[in-house]
This record gives sequence, C-alpha cells and structure tokens, in this order.
Amino acid sequence: MKRVGILTSGGDCQGLNSTIRAVAKTLYNYYGADDVEIIGIIDGYRGLIYGEYRRMKPENFSGILTMGGTILGTSRQPFKLMRVIDENSVDKVAAMKKNYKKLNLNCLVVLGGNGTQKTANLLREEGLNVVSLPKTIDNDLWGTDITFGFQSAVDIATNVIDCIHTTATSHGRVFIIEVMGHKVGWLTLYAGIAGGADIILIPEIPYDINSVIKTIKARTASGKNFSILAVAEGAISKELASLPKKQKKAAIADMKYPSISYKIAEEIEQATGQETRVTVPGHFQRGGSPDPYDRVISTRFGVAAAQLIIDKNYGNMVALRNGKVVPVPLEEIAGKLKTVPTDSEEIKTAKAMGISFGD
Ligand code: F6P
Repeated sequence: MKRVGILTSGGDCQGLNSTIRAVAKTLYNYYGADDVEIIGIIDGYRGLIYGEYRRMKPENFSGILTMGGTILGTSRQPFKLMRVIDENSVDKVAAMKKNYKKLNLNCLVVLGGNGTQKTANLLREEGLNVVSLPKTIDNDLWGTDITFGFQSAVDIATNVIDCIHTTATSHGRVFIIEVMGHKVGWLTLYAGIAGGADIILIPEIPYDINSVIKTIKARTASGKNFSILAVAEGAISKELASLPKKQKKAAIADMKYPSISYKIAEEIEQATGQETRVTVPGHFQRGGSPDPYDRVISTRFGVAAAQLIIDKNYGNMVALRNGKVVPVPLEEIAGKLKTVPTDSEEIKTAKAMGISFGD
C-alpha cells in the first residue's frame, strides 16, 4: 500500500482543488484505489505539525475541478519561524517528521508559493520525500514560467479594470485599480495590458510621481477626460526605493494611507485638480473558479506530480518551462523570487503602446 500525504499552504488561489484532483485521480488510476491511500493534511503545515489530517476516499476528489479555495484548508506558517519552538513548546520540524513517520507516508505532496517551497525544501533536507507544485496568483515562483492561479487572477483584475473604464469615462475621473502581487508586478502588468491601463506602476520599476502627473496632464490636454492606473500593491516611489532597506521599511510602515494607491491618488488630485478614485479588489482576485487555462495547467501539474511519486523522483517541484511540464530540484528554487525583468518583452510591448510606467 502506497501512502501519500497532501497539503495546501499559504494564501489560497484558484486551481488548488483541480490540482489536488489531478494528483489523486492519477494515483488511483495507476495503483488502483485499494493500493494507494491519500491522507489530506488539514490547514497546511499546521496540520502536519499538530497531526490534523483526514483519510481521503476517491469520491472526495470528484466534483472539485471548478471549485475555488481548497478542500483541505490552508494557513500561513512563516518559514522563518519553522525552526523556532512555539508557545506550546512544540519543535515544529521534529513534529512534522514525527507525524510523517506516524502516518507511514511514502511521500508528501505540497501545494504552495514561495514560503511553502522553502519549508518543502527544509523537509527534503530533513530526509522526507517531498514533491511540490507551484501555486500563487503572484506568479513569483522562481523556476517556473507560470504558477496556477495567476491566469484566473489576471482575468478578475482585468474585469475590474474593464468595469472601471466605463465609469471613469462617464465621470471624467482618474481611477487607480490596486492589484495584488505582493512584492512583484506580474499580475498588475498582465491585467494592466489586458485592461488597457494608461499607467502601470510595479515594484520592479520605481515611479516618479511627477512623471505620472505629466502623463495624466498630457492625456487631458489631448482631449482624454479620464485616466486609468493599474498600481501594484507593492509599487514604490523612486524616492523610497533609494533609501537603505531599514529606513525604507520604516517609511512604508509609517505611511498614513491604507495603501500606496491612496497616497498616489492624493498626489494626483492635488496636482491635476481632477477627481481621483481608488478601487481595491483585494482578495476577490483569489476567489472563485479557476479559469479554463488554470484548470488545464493545474491538471498538467497534478498529473506530472503524481508521475514523480510513481517514479520515486522526490525532492522536486513541477514547473512549466518553455511549454513543457518538467521537474526542478527544490534546492534550486527555494528562496528565490521571480520578479518582472525590466527588459522583458511584456514591458517593452507596453512601452511601445505608450503605456507609462512612471519612470
Ligand atoms: O501571495 C498571494 C497574496 O494574495 C498576495 O498577492 C497578497 O499580498 C497576499 O497574498 C495577501 O495575503 P493575506 O491573504 O494573508 O492577506
């Protein structure tokens, strides 16, 4: 009997259930339902630490292809605290190893983003058999061209920009749509291009507010009565970006606005006199059904992960590289962030179209 543990960790996104389903169905098809047992670990690494799990049955994986969220639950367990003994005197790494052994697992399947992959690599170093899958709407996982969840979030953020476009035109306003993405600008860049934003601000290209204001004034002078800005939640001014790390962190923490978009909005309104509004779709971007692209890529990833288990090819994350799903060693990707290259084709395309990055 083969025993496989599976967990989802970190922020959720579309495509978690379709990935879980693909792993499970491939394993049941290969081994037969009586010869493989899948253990669903509840709420990510927390369940593995505290021994919370569910023995799954094949029917648990039916009807979940289009379902958002995760049937297993998730939680954030920061990597930097993994080696720190918790308030109940639990040694988390030792506890995870103990539960893995207690459950008699042959392998642990982990679905997650950056922090999750770091912990997956730590467990690999500790001798556990781990296979991981790249999940996040941020698309910031090094080693893979795409993560599942990203496209669905692009769809939602684009839809927000589309809707805002009509009201911005009617009222002749400036609108900022603040897009998620943590420290990187993939989601904002893609939604910004897809939604026809006039200005896109991403963390990789610190902005100069005077340049942003100049673009808006030029649009007004050319007869355009509205402007649309797609602003990444991690967007940063040139001024702040030039500060030493500690000072920068303190300045961001001291900001009197709920988020960067509100600061930019105030500066634009003061300088142009044009009414400026902010829309923050927030967690809406992570919710609901995966789109068809994510259903396909998560199924491809899930099948490939199951194949790694069948081949006992542990210690890898499945990734999409140049159109092919391939394994990449966890030690190669853990702890690395995939930012938007400032000379990427996407940025060049946007600039060629006259989209301003405020630089
Ligand atoms: O990593 C996914 C993400 O949605 C980021 O885009 C965002 O910054 C963060 O998670 C929000 O985290 P939380 O759900 O913990 O508020």
